[in-house]
Amino acid sequence: MRPLLLIGLGLLSLTMEAGHPELPSQPLPKAPPAGSVRFAIPEEPQRPGDPKAGYDTLVNGDYVSCGVPWSIYRMAFGDAPASRRLPGRRGHNARLSYDVTALKTSRGVEVVTANCLGCHATPTEDGVIIGLGNSALDLTEDFAPFATAAGLLVRDSGELAEWWRWSGRIRAVSPYTRPDTIGVNPADNLAAVLSAHRDPDTLAWSDEPRHELPREAPVPADVPAWWLLRKKHAMFHTGIGRGDHARLMMSASMLCTDSVEEAERIDSTFNDVRAYLTTLRPPRYPYPIDRKLAAEGRELFEAFCSECHGTYGDKESYPNLIIPLEEVGTDPLLWQATAREGLPMVEWFNRSFYGRTARLVPGPGYVAPPLDGIWATAPYLHNGSVPTVEAVLDSRKRPTWWRRSFSQRQFDPVALGWKHQVLSHGKAAETDPSLRKRIYDTTLPGYSNQGHTFGDELSEEQRHAVIEYLKTL
Ligand code: HEC
Ligand code: HEC
Repeated sequence: MRPLLLIGLGLLSLTMEAGHPELPSQPLPKAPPAGSVRFAIPEEPQRPGDPKAGYDTLVNGDYVSCGVPWSIYRMAFGDAPASRRLPGRRGHNARLSYDVTALKTSRGVEVVTANCLGCHATPTEDGVIIGLGNSALDLTEDFAPFATAAGLLVRDSGELAEWWRWSGRIRAVSPYTRPDTIGVNPADNLAAVLSAHRDPDTLAWSDEPRHELPREAPVPADVPAWWLLRKKHAMFHTGIGRGDHARLMMSASMLCTDSVEEAERIDSTFNDVRAYLTTLRPPRYPYPIDRKLAAEGRELFEAFCSECHGTYGDKESYPNLIIPLEEVGTDPLLWQATAREGLPMVEWFNRSFYGRTARLVPGPGYVAPPLDGIWATAPYLHNGSVPTVEAVLDSRKRPTWWRRSFSQRQFDPVALGWKHQVLSHGKAAETDPSLRKRIYDTTLPGYSNQGHTFGDELSEEQRHAVIEYLKTL
């Protein structure tokens, strides 16, 4: 049941939608050409906020205002183990797993719902790492039948109404949020579907979509680490999220935000959430580092990589560049889905409450991300197609088919990233479904591991010096 909740709430992370043909409130955004010009994203003012209050909102807040009735949840789940609990949680939440939140709805019914941390935190034996995208989520099952069946267990009429509302949302989104690979995150599709079911002016939900829905197979995206946000002028892999970051990120909670009044209430706390996210820092590399080699690597990094990825340490800088698709050459599907096919969603967003202080502005390619804590964030590239940094820096080493490992102990300190098994066949040739969903198949649309060949010209020694340096970031 937990993954189901997760899906339900999860789609929010992006935001956008399609809109009213009759009165566009802003000129329609134009699809940019993939082009060849790098784009420096300008800084925009952010609303100040209180990080402590933001953490409290994140772990206790009712920003996702529908869910499965508490009584049903309790039939399926007991108290969470200590390693999955978070400090500072109140009431029922103190005993729940970090990725779900208990709250009282406007009808006064207690429900449990998925929260932001289901995708944006990773549980380990030593506790939960907030901000590290969860690359082990298995969202491949269809949970809608379970969500629907859960209603049979409800007696009370208030609970029945809450269950019906929540399970309806799950049924609407679930066909579009089922990747066939573990760790692939469907958030972008989720956002697209949620927006399609909402009036951009009133945010009222309609069961019939108001504009075209995306293709069902979710475009694969890896979840960016939250600790990078403090450096970024724009949100999301394509840099499409501009303006007020708090407003952009709250749109990730819109599963049940059915009125502008409710959106305003949530919005009044998300400046604090944003402020909290900017206080996060990456975990330190836990193994020994060869300082001399790292110093050599730093020089190479500054010569070959800094123009796009910035500099680190005392004189920190970050250029906030979108690198055109043509130049970076990585998989084009996410870019196409947002910058081209996603234009109805872009228009919806920009016209809606969310667009009053934030905007979606398609750019020419992908953001060159800051590399702080890169050692911890495998798999790599926006679609998670490359299991190690070494293979990011040497395109000849990238496996076409590989099986992911999700255990912390499977960390590879030499290639920097995940230990993984290279396979000789893809999904089509695998008949065992439990193995099939574990195969990362780079021959599928959206899953390609092409591009970013900027490290290919380095020698093996130079590459390992750069990797040693990256461990220090
Ligand atoms: C279903 C999983 C999921 C949930 C739930 C989710 N997100 Fe995300 N989030 C993502 C993914 C995937 C991306 C990257 C999407 C992209 O760039 O195309 C993302 C991107 C972001 C970013 C931008 C990061 C960057 O560096 O560009 C922020 C900030 C963020 N989410 C905050 C939130 C907040 C706050 C919530 C809760 C209200 C939330 N997310 C809920 C999956 C999720
Ligand atoms: C021309 C600009 C450019 C140069 C030069 C460049 N990169 Fe990148 N890098 C990018 C972009 C853009 C991405 C994101 C691509 C994507 O996700 O599709 C990226 C992604 C990465 C990633 C994966 C990040 C993640 O979180 O998944 C790593 C690691 C990386 N680069 C390291 C390097 C190193 C090391 C060098 C120098 C040898 C380098 N890059 C040179 C633009 C550049």
